[in-house]
Amino acid sequence: MNVLVLGSGGRESALAWKIAGSPLLEHLYCMPGNPGTASFATNVDCSLSDFESIARHISDLSVDMLVVGPENPLVDGITDFFRERIPSLMVIGPGRDGARLEGSKDFAKAFMSGHSIPTAAYRTFEASQIEEASAFLEEIKPPYVLKADGLAAGKGVIITHSLEEARQELASMFGGRFGDAGAKVVIEEYLSGIELSVFVLTDGKDYLMLPHAKDYKRIGEGDTGPNTGGMGSVSPVTFADESFMAKVEERIIRPTIRGILSEGMNYCGFIFIGLMNCGGDPYVIEYNVRMGDPECESVVRRIDSDLLEHLRAAATGTLSLEKIEVSPMSSVTVMAVSGGYPGSYKKGFTISGLDVNYGEENTVIFHAGTAVSGNNVVTSGGRVLAVTSLAASLDEARKASYGRLAKIGFEGIFYRSDIGCDLLDF
Ligand code: AMP
Ligand code: GLY
Repeated sequence: MNVLVLGSGGRESALAWKIAGSPLLEHLYCMPGNPGTASFATNVDCSLSDFESIARHISDLSVDMLVVGPENPLVDGITDFFRERIPSLMVIGPGRDGARLEGSKDFAKAFMSGHSIPTAAYRTFEASQIEEASAFLEEIKPPYVLKADGLAAGKGVIITHSLEEARQELASMFGGRFGDAGAKVVIEEYLSGIELSVFVLTDGKDYLMLPHAKDYKRIGEGDTGPNTGGMGSVSPVTFADESFMAKVEERIIRPTIRGILSEGMNYCGFIFIGLMNCGGDPYVIEYNVRMGDPECESVVRRIDSDLLEHLRAAATGTLSLEKIEVSPMSSVTVMAVSGGYPGSYKKGFTISGLDVNYGEENTVIFHAGTAVSGNNVVTSGGRVLAVTSLAASLDEARKASYGRLAKIGFEGIFYRSDIGCDLLDF
């Protein structure tokens, strides 16, 4: 099979790396990919929003399967485009209808209500209802959770204890701070607990449970400071024991898949469910229609079976016959980021210590925000590298990732030193 992975971040690097090891693979392409993927795949430069150009490359390269990494092309209908344009192409990623589970918080909340899937109580307001929304804030208890309805690059959720600030945020969202994404605002009950990311691969009727993971979202040690795209991840998560995961499947995964089927969504791809464990009971915080980043890096390291075979089964509707093999080992991913991230940061710093083989066979460096400049690999994004290790215990995996990171350098490099620490004593 010839496979094209769309995207250029750590998530896509990890998906491509895993697919590259499949005996079913003939040729692997990454679009646009990065200097890391160039070492095991052919990078093809193209804009991800230019579906016509992507289609030309797919025909020229005889691509059999397109794996869509990020959410934007999915929400913009890339899957529907290719279903019509090249019906024989296997596309991993839902159509526009399924992608609304991520693209519209209001749609996702209504879906959950309609299918009795546990989630925080909520109401949705439009800009014309700003006074009603304000009055609603007064009725409920803090902390206040406000969510812009549409995609807002991970910045559309505001949580505050201050009623005044909540009102200001509401006005700013309705005032266009997130453009059309803030035309509707969801106000919901605050859920208190520990977060967990759960992943399934589905063909719209059956599903495979992938390993779950925990993401560390804030920039600072001890979960402090502003939110980022994710500073690290671990898998598995010790508090998600068998009985909790049984509740997740029973109360959340199965009703979600049944809902997708009953609403007639043509859904082939990943579902990433952000959950809160509230005193042992799972509640959905959000759906995403793609893998998480940096969860994906830790998750793929624990999949022992052939992911490409599972993807092909999802695309051909035969997932019920598949069995996934998951490693009992632990994986830990630590993100190295540019100084200043998630605020403004400089790019173009030379990265050292990448190519040297330190003999740590269970550690993989996934490139995220890197580029080539002359003979050097340089920084080109906020999240630069994801260092992922697989080991017999969480502690050993942590040590391996931090050991490898210590040998990498670029001006302004920053990473959290406490990824996975909170789970060591569980
Ligand atoms: P989202 O973009 O929906 O994932 O929200 C971003 C983050 O805000 C989540 O990962 C949670 O940490 C937090 N969050 C969202 N909704 C809630 C809620 N109802 N209660 C508590 N925390 C929340
Ligand atoms: N790590 C969170 C996300 O990918 O949305």
